[in-house]
Amino acid sequence: MISTAAASHDTIRAVLWQGDSLRLLDQRRLPFEETYIECRTAAEAATAIRDLAVRGAPAIGIAAAWGVVLAAQNDPAHLDEAFSTLRAARPTAVNLMWALDRMAGARAGGAEALEREAQAIQDEDLAANRQMGELGARLLGHGVGVLTHCNTGSLATAGYGTALGVIRAGYSDGSIVRVFAGETRPWLQGARLTMWELVRDGIPAHLIADSAAAHLMKSGDVQWVVVGADRIAANGDTANKIGTYQLAIAARHHGVRFMVVAPSSTIDMATPDGAAIQIELRSPDEMLSFGGTATVVEGARAWNPVFDVTPHDLIDVIVTERGAVHAPDAARMKALFGAPAPDR
Ligand code: MRU
Repeated sequence: MISTAAASHDTIRAVLWQGDSLRLLDQRRLPFEETYIECRTAAEAATAIRDLAVRGAPAIGIAAAWGVVLAAQNDPAHLDEAFSTLRAARPTAVNLMWALDRMAGARAGGAEALEREAQAIQDEDLAANRQMGELGARLLGHGVGVLTHCNTGSLATAGYGTALGVIRAGYSDGSIVRVFAGETRPWLQGARLTMWELVRDGIPAHLIADSAAAHLMKSGDVQWVVVGADRIAANGDTANKIGTYQLAIAARHHGVRFMVVAPSSTIDMATPDGAAIQIELRSPDEMLSFGGTATVVEGARAWNPVFDVTPHDLIDVIVTERGAVHAPDAARMKALFGAPAPDR
């Protein structure tokens, strides 16, 4: 049960099932506008995932699950096609494939069974986040400063968040006294989304330029970097938003501890290590313009990988709803998560 203090820092829900449509808080427009889009088909849900109207590994999986329900309700003859369109929407976050595999398992029961499964995926994510929040906060120590990256909050999940859930819990119980969020260029998930969540939910925080992180660590104001994940391989190597890897390197150099917070739906025991994780490359336009306005001279080119892999030996602890893996490696991951499923 979540404490009243923690509940007052948890007011946002971005993925809303309406019975016959999926309502998504459009994250492309935050914080300037709070508008919702309505998806009525699996193809619309896939487009919302691809175009980042909904993003964050767990939220992508949940939205895809509801996309399958929309297909089962409106176009059951093309359910296979719906599964493949949704699966192809984004490559790195394994929660997408995990949720679709779960939905495939419920397929024989028809639209109603699929609806129950999607709801279970969403509800379990929220419960996992609350559990991880408490578990992660207990590991921090008292009166610490934390730096986070990207957005791992209510917007990125069924609610509460993963790394941001630890920050919600740690701020509520007094273990966290300073919060810093990196901007997260180029899409500005930290500046646009994390700061919006923290301001709305009454958690004081400072935004920093991504390039200020090492300087911040040197100042002694942060004791932990706390981040989420898009896919964690069997040896603990962790894919997360671009920039996470350099934070882990800087953290180790400065004696700042590094925590990854992710539900077990982000663990991919079938992928042996980080080298086997596909890193999404997005359009250079995301680097060269903002809100449709060019910010770089015409003719310039850009390289836009949107995730990187932090090697497991730079991670102090991975927190999941099943427990924490300290100093993660293949043996410790296997002890908690078992051997990979045979066919993924
Ligand atoms: O490209 P995005 O915004 O979907 O990337 C999101 C991240 O990298 C998050 O850190 C990760 O998905 C964890 S969200 C709980």
